[in-house]
Formats: sequence, structure tokens, C-alpha cells
Amino acid sequence: SLPVPSVRELAIQQPEAVPPRYIRDEVAQPTANVSDPLLRVPLIDMANLVDPQYQMMEIHKLHVACRDWGIFQLINLGEYDESMRTMKKKVQDFFNLSLEEKKLYAQKPGSLEGYGQAFVLSEEQKLEWCDMIFLKTLPTHIRKLEFWPEHPPMYRETLHDYSVAMRKIAVSVMGFIAIGLGLDAKVFSEAFVDGKYDVRMNCYPACPEPERVIGIASHADNSGITLLVDCDDTPGLQVLKDGQWVFVEPIADAIVINTGNIMEIMSNGIYKGPFHRAVVNKWKERFSIVTFCYPSTNSCIGPAKELIKTGCPSLYKTLTVEDYFYRFFNQKFDGVPILHALK
Ligand code: SIN
Ligand code: FE2
Repeated sequence: SLPVPSVRELAIQQPEAVPPRYIRDEVAQPTANVSDPLLRVPLIDMANLVDPQYQMMEIHKLHVACRDWGIFQLINLGEYDESMRTMKKKVQDFFNLSLEEKKLYAQKPGSLEGYGQAFVLSEEQKLEWCDMIFLKTLPTHIRKLEFWPEHPPMYRETLHDYSVAMRKIAVSVMGFIAIGLGLDAKVFSEAFVDGKYDVRMNCYPACPEPERVIGIASHADNSGITLLVDCDDTPGLQVLKDGQWVFVEPIADAIVINTGNIMEIMSNGIYKGPFHRAVVNKWKERFSIVTFCYPSTNSCIGPAKELIKTGCPSLYKTLTVEDYFYRFFNQKFDGVPILHALK
């Protein structure tokens, strides 16, 4: 059985109030004015990135987006649209299955993979208004297929195709990000060709008291980059920009990309992983698919050596991927955020 009840099952009963374990003291509502064009997450056009005529212009926009926001929406993905649409449908169909069916893929104690909730460490811990299924997708040999749903039909094949598509996009974006920093594309892209890819599919049920709960609490990602796809046009993701929470408005067929801790290290602090969170609403369930992209296990995580020169000392230690993850998972116990521990 699940360590924590399914939020979706709770929401189906249409409670008037939310159980106390979900109530947060302060879920400050966004103060950002959505119609302010300066508070709109930048758009980066993939068609321009691959067009020699517009490439340098678009790479410059990408650099500014990574530097000033740490998040952007990648549009015009053409050949990937179908794979994304098929996956979105599977994710919605999976969460719409009965609890009994979903529980066949439930998380086991001590492991994050499978269907359930994120990081529930204690009885007192506040809970998030979110059901999820978390799977390691690439390289294929790290898959734990016992957690991969067999229903809805073709779910596994769809997730396989989707993760391969996301890897292609990640490798290409990592290359353009490197060029934007004045580096060769492969300085960043190479380690992601056979990188590690995890996917987290989220279901945020409608909530009777949305301003008192959080879908996912504020955090920065540990990834190199993270690729987020909204399953429909229901907003929920917010990014902290200059002290304000700004909604990332869903755009059909776009991918929201944010930088994470590993990018902060690779870029020697030029790019930072932004704080972001997911809020919920009173009327409509929201689904999202989040792909975390990490360098391959046989690479190192450290500032690109080309960025280290007089006046620009290395800000972070270089570690093997294995040591990095060891430090990352242990920071939860020693309380020092990884980026500080590596200075
Ligand atoms: C996150 O991955 O941190 C936010 C996920 C979402 O917006 O669904
Ligand atoms: Fe995140």
C-alpha cells in the first residue's frame, strides 16, 4: 500500500476543506502581473536554432534567457509534436485508471521509482497536492520495468519513444547553450548523449482550497536541464523572477526548459537553477511530464575549463558523477546545499 493516500482519491470525494497535513502556513499568491511583457518567460525558437541564417541571433537570445531567467519555452519543435501529444494522452489515461490498477506500480519503501508521492520522510511532513509516477528511462539498462505501467495500452512503448525524443532535444539544447557561452557545442552536449534521464509524471487534482496548498513546493532542480511538458493549457508552474512568482503560461506543443544545479556548476555560476514551484487551482486537474537530464555516469561534473581564466576562478569543485550524486543525496542529512558544499 502507499505510504501516503492518493491526492486524486481525496479530491474525488469533493471535500469542503483540505486535510491539515496539506495546509501550508504561507502559500503567497503571485503578485506578478501576467500582462506585463517583461514578466513573460522568454520563447526560444528551435527552427531558428537550426537555421544557419538565424542561428547566432537565437543562440544569443538563449544565452540571455539562461542568464536572466534560467527558464524558457522552446517552440517550433515540428518533428517531436506527435511523440509529445501521444505521451500527454497516455499520462492522462494512466492517472484516470482506478487506484487498484495504479497501485500495481506503487513505490516500494526507500525508493522513489513508481507511482505515489515525492520524498515523504516523516509522519509530520507537510504533503504536496500531487500524485506522481517517477521512472528512470535512459540508458535503457537502468530501467526497472516492474514500475512501468502496462496500462493504458502502449504506455511503455510511448514512454520509450518520448524519452528518446527528449534526449535528442536535450543534447541539441546543451550544445546551443555551450555555443552561447563561447564554447564548442560538444563541451556540454557530449556527456548528455549517453546521459541519465528520469521522468516524473504529475497529476495535480483540482483543490477546494488552492491558496492554502502547494502542488510542488519551491525548489531548484538538481539536473543539467529539465524539460517540462504541460498536458493541456492549465497553468500551474511558477518561477521566481526578481522576487516575484511568475506563471509559466502553457503553450501548445512547446517545452518549458529550466537550468539546474549541474548547469550552474558547468557554467561556473554564469547560469543558475531558478526556484520554481507548482500551484493548483479550484476548477481543473493539471497534468505535466517532467524530464530531468543528467550527464552520463562515466563523466565528471565541474566548471568547463574553457571558462576558467584570470579574473574568472573556478567556483566549484569537480567531482565524478557518482561522487556528485553521493554528495547530493547526503545533503539531505547534513543540511548543506550541494552548491555551497562544492565551493
Ligand atoms: C517541477 O517539476 O518542479 C514543477 C512541475 C510542474 O510544473 O508540474
Ligand atoms: Fe523542479
